[in-house]
Amino acid sequence: MLKTVLQQEIAARGPMRLDRFIDFVLYHAAEGYYRRTVPVGKTGDFITAPEISSIFGELIGLFFLDYWQRANCPTPVRLIELGPGKGTMMEDMLTSFKRRPVIFEQLSVHLVEVSESLRALQQKKLAPYSFVHWHCSLEEVPDGFHLLIGNEFFDAFSIRQFNYRGSGNKNTWTERFVTDDGDNFGFVEMPLSHPPVDFTPDAPCLIETSETSLAYADLIADKLAKKGGLGLFIDYGAAKEPWTGDSLQAVKNHQFVEVLAEPGTADITHHVDFLSLQKCFKNKGLKTFDILSQREFLTNLGIELRLEQQKKLLSPQELKRQQLAIFRLIGPQFMGELFKVLAVGQNNDITPAGF
Ligand SMILES: C[S@@+](CC[C@H](N)C(=O)[O-])C[C@H]1O[C@@H](n2cnc3c(N)ncnc32)[C@H](O)[C@@H]1O
Repeated sequence: MLKTVLQQEIAARGPMRLDRFIDFVLYHAAEGYYRRTVPVGKTGDFITAPEISSIFGELIGLFFLDYWQRANCPTPVRLIELGPGKGTMMEDMLTSFKRRPVIFEQLSVHLVEVSESLRALQQKKLAPYSFVHWHCSLEEVPDGFHLLIGNEFFDAFSIRQFNYRGSGNKNTWTERFVTDDGDNFGFVEMPLSHPPVDFTPDAPCLIETSETSLAYADLIADKLAKKGGLGLFIDYGAAKEPWTGDSLQAVKNHQFVEVLAEPGTADITHHVDFLSLQKCFKNKGLKTFDILSQREFLTNLGIELRLEQQKKLLSPQELKRQQLAIFRLIGPQFMGELFKVLAVGQNNDITPAGF
């Protein structure tokens, strides 16, 4: 059991740094959360935007198609999805691509997925398409013009958490580690000899960093730099500086649960620090655009108009269902404000649609 493996490691090596604990819980080769379960969907632990309405993936398909056309249709095109879940968004994006069949002449699809069970679902869903390839890492994707999407991808990366207690305090900075009392896991604060960030907060606070996210952003930037393209990242999070506050959370059966309880049975995530990601892409020479809320992005892409167009084709029940779904995607009290959208492009002057 994962709990035993963690207990043994803590007994042998002492308290475990939080990011290592998260990586263990999510990605342990045999028992990790993403190795064992199908987390997405009604029968899983959480629902994501592509599972709420097919209009989400279709609009993003049109968004990429438009960008590719305005970039003068470069080839070969690699449509890449990081962490594609059940494959629903890819299926919906490809439906939109059928409006410009010429793109299929030079298109291949690349799904970067760590979960075997999700991979099996994706393979089933995308079976009609012969040009789909699976990878464990983005590095394996062949070069080409990249159209790359990550929806709820970065929230899965591990974080570190630091407490600032104010200058003059004996333990000015501490870092959160995970310990074990034999029954339960708990947090313990370990003193730090050096500040973990390059600024001094005004008041006591908790600060999060995600080195694994920034390392992955670096990798994405290197890939986009080779032959150009566009990256789009959608996730819950904020664009605020400084990045303070505890955003670590665990979700099981659509409910928030204790982060350290029953490791491996719940999805552990955090809110994405969009400004740090944006800065990382900028430092790598990519062009970044204003961070939008999901509501702004989807509204700018015409989500309400699209529903209006479909009205005549839908039964009253189906129309009601779609209206509720769209409200869930853009309503400020649902996903509309909590979710943010970051676009990063390479080597041309094109502003992506919606930005
Ligand atoms: C929260 S789910 C989102 C799924 C999908 N994008 C959606 O919106 O429905 C996270 C996805 O990322 C995958 N994943 C998590 N960490 C990953 C990693 N380091 N590399 C590749 N895939 C990863 C998971 O298996 C899952 O498919």
